[in-house]
Amino acid sequence: MSDFDFPEIRPAALADSAGVYAACIASIQEGGPKGHTAAEVEAWANRITEARLRSKIESLQFYVAEAAHHGIVGFSALDESTSELAYLYVHPVAMGLGLGRRLVETVECEARRLGLRHLNLVGSLNAVGFYRHIGFVANETIVRDIDGVPIQCVKMSKQL
Ligand SMILES: CC(C)(COP(=O)(O)OP(=O)(O)OC[C@H]1O[C@@H](n2cnc3c(N)ncnc32)[C@H](O)[C@@H]1OP(=O)(O)O)[C@@H](O)C(=O)NCCC(=O)NCCS
Repeated sequence: MSDFDFPEIRPAALADSAGVYAACIASIQEGGPKGHTAAEVEAWANRITEARLRSKIESLQFYVAEAAHHGIVGFSALDESTSELAYLYVHPVAMGLGLGRRLVETVECEARRLGLRHLNLVGSLNAVGFYRHIGFVANETIVRDIDGVPIQCVKMSKQL
């Protein structure tokens, strides 16, 4: 067992923003090409900035997974105002070990505590199989415009 297997999941602090940003970019670069073109992955990664993530750490219920010796290896966030799983990213060193599932469960648990009845998300094509596997259903395929690059995504939801 490696120390990625059971990283601690805790509420994020502003001081986590650099680690969150690094994990996010690495996650997109590893996971994105499994469902999207190189141009789409580039537009997706370019849209993420540390400043944007800092503002989301302040405004959303934002959770980080931190592994001993490795820092931030994943994060998720709940937007209570839209009942949305707003972020979910796992660093490549920790993919495939159950961390994505745990990060979603953390958000689901908080959403239930807040009295929300369902969780929505807009999933990238590489992640749709994962979300289906953990109980989300696909409702609609949409196209998002990210800096002039059209990117197909899937609106999904799950009853809580
Ligand atoms: C998608 C992502 C969050 C999944 O996280 P992960 O930690 O690798 O996934 P887990 O190990 O928690 O997987 C949980 C279960 O889902 C299954 N699973 C994972 N990916 C899957 C896929 N593409 N299709 C079907 N099942 C999948 C696993 O086999 C596992 O099944 P089990 O619990 O029955 O053994 C991760 O790959 C990632 O960060 N990708 C890049 C960023 C991204 O796309 N984020 C989502 C943006 S909407």
